Amino acid sequence: MSLPTPLYDLKCFPSVYEPSEDTFLFIDALETEMDFIKSLNPTSIIEVGSGNGVVITSLAAALKCTQVLFAIDINPLACLATEHTAHLNKTTVECLNMDLLSNFKDSVFDIILFNPPYVVTESEEIVGQGLSRAWAGGINGREIIDKFLPKLRDCLHSKGVCYMITIKENKPDEIKEIMLDFGFKTAIVKERKVPGEHLFVLKFWRG
Ligand SMILES: C[S@@+](CC[C@H](N)C(=O)[O-])C[C@H]1O[C@@H](n2cnc3c(N)ncnc32)[C@H](O)[C@@H]1O
Repeated sequence: MSLPTPLYDLKCFPSVYEPSEDTFLFIDALETEMDFIKSLNPTSIIEVGSGNGVVITSLAAALKCTQVLFAIDINPLACLATEHTAHLNKTTVECLNMDLLSNFKDSVFDIILFNPPYVVTESEEIVGQGLSRAWAGGINGREIIDKFLPKLRDCLHSKGVCYMITIKENKPDEIKEIMLDFGFKTAIVKERKVPGEHLFVLKFWRG
């Protein structure tokens, strides 16, 4: 099943991440995984760091979702952009302005998506709520990723799945070990070398 790139228009959202190579690789990975995703009959789906909204909207359109899908972004304009993209494509995504999954204490999701800020930067660059939050990942590009991963233990349904982007500098093998300790299996669903980046889409599930 193909997942076409949804329509989007970010003219009114200058501080929001434009769909890029990582975004398109993420959509390609979801396309590859569609049979598995459908087999889960997912009812609760969330994208963390939805930014432009293209990834969650492509999944909503492919699943012909009748229910509202959720998204989260730390950038309030990204929340508006996500909802705008969903609307342009006749789907509904409710985007909450919050930090990772912090406010979801008793919620579990069937599918969690995250294309995190993965670029290696100084820790001090992780600041504010603007565009730099889309890429600044701190030491090893892992500072946000390492806050996100433990939350999967509480927020992912026992039969659920999480897909997350990383680059080589994030040390995907080390991430695999961390997730193993948390009781998750890991697989690389897709990888792609693009100028300046070797991208991976990781899949986590309890098996
Ligand atoms: C690499 S961009 C990905 C945007 C979009 N999902 C895509 O694939 O094109 C990362 C997104 O995560 C958001 N973000 C960064 N840190 C976050 C946090 N702690 N909580 C929620 N969102 C965060 C950023 O604002 C940005 O929109």
